[in-house]
Amino acid sequence: MTLRAGIVGIGKIGSDHLRRLANTISGVEVVAVCDIVPGRAQAALDKLGLKAKDYSDYHQLVNDSDVDVVVCTASNEVHADVGVAALNAKKYLFMEKPLAISAADCMRVIEAEQKNGKRMVQVGFMRRYDSGYAQLKSIIADNEIGQPLLIHGRHYNASTAEGYITPAAIYETLIHEIDVLHWLIDDDFTTAKVYFPRQTSLVDVDKLKLRDPQVAVLETATGVNVVVEIFVNCQYGYDIHCDVTGELGMAELPSPPSVAVRKNAKYSTDILTDWKERFIDAYDTEFQDFFDHLNAGKAPVGANAWDGYLAAITSDACVKSQQSGKTETISLPKEKPALYR
Ligand SMILES: NC(=O)c1ccc[n+]([C@@H]2O[C@H](COP(=O)([O-])OP(=O)(O)OC[C@H]3O[C@@H](n4cnc5c(N)ncnc54)[C@H](O)[C@@H]3O)[C@@H](O)[C@H]2O)c1
Repeated sequence: MTLRAGIVGIGKIGSDHLRRLANTISGVEVVAVCDIVPGRAQAALDKLGLKAKDYSDYHQLVNDSDVDVVVCTASNEVHADVGVAALNAKKYLFMEKPLAISAADCMRVIEAEQKNGKRMVQVGFMRRYDSGYAQLKSIIADNEIGQPLLIHGRHYNASTAEGYITPAAIYETLIHEIDVLHWLIDDDFTTAKVYFPRQTSLVDVDKLKLRDPQVAVLETATGVNVVVEIFVNCQYGYDIHCDVTGELGMAELPSPPSVAVRKNAKYSTDILTDWKERFIDAYDTEFQDFFDHLNAGKAPVGANAWDGYLAAITSDACVKSQQSGKTETISLPKEKPALYR
């Protein structure tokens, strides 16, 4: 079977996912695209030599009877509205992370999904599909390093987009670690505090309204301390690290393979600069898995809307801490709705 997808938001990742769904993933055909910027979606289609309906209003795309699945890669601010519209139109939904900027907006998506009485949403937390994180997870689950005590993560970007402001470092960037680290050690976050160390002088952080770098310190229910550095004007490349220290040893997320060169008394390996390359296999695997499940008549098994909601509760607490300068409590719901159990 081939499912018919419509993509809302053909920007940086939307055009990459358009290429991916059209050329790499089986069991899906892109029948419609939409972007509010006139000509942007058509230009992406032309570049790839593709044909699809081109809408400027996402309501038309989600209500098109030729569309079975909505893939939302639009700006974070419209995620909840697009998600609710897609679910009200009874369409399956792949929502790029975050599910929505705030937990309250995530709840709107959850309520719309619940009205349909079945799981229809997957959130683009693709690190769960990365082979390095999967290896790390099994090493922890097999008790090879004993109980995890500390996690140190680094999320460094080579540049930022326009409009990327202080809280975006949380809901746009740290949100990846918030989801994947809770999944990695199967633990819930309980408190959050965000620090602003000495700021980079290489960009005008005041003009950008961006504090950079930032350090998020999270505590989990079992007492694991998680420290993640976020630095989005990193000059040397796109660099993701995750070290998990346990009672018996330390496990480290593998870096992407790169040939080591010994020359002129130096030993060097490449560091990626394009974030699209770092998790390229994970993006492919997550989409193939999503469409394989839908095509088999099964619910998607990647991060679901509830995972997106839990991540947003922690993200909200981090944003609150950015403003208050204090440690903020993360209050997760005690009960999971039946749909997500
Ligand atoms: N999983 C990942 O690793 C990853 C990586 C990058 C981006 N993202 C997520 O993907 C989304 C897009 O990010 P991006 O970097 O491509 O941003 P972008 O700004 O390049 O693209 C967003 C696009 O959405 C369009 N848009 C905005 N409002 C719209 C509306 N109402 N209807 C239709 N189109 C609309 C914009 O015109 C733009 O073309 C964000 O939510 C981001 O967090 C995820």
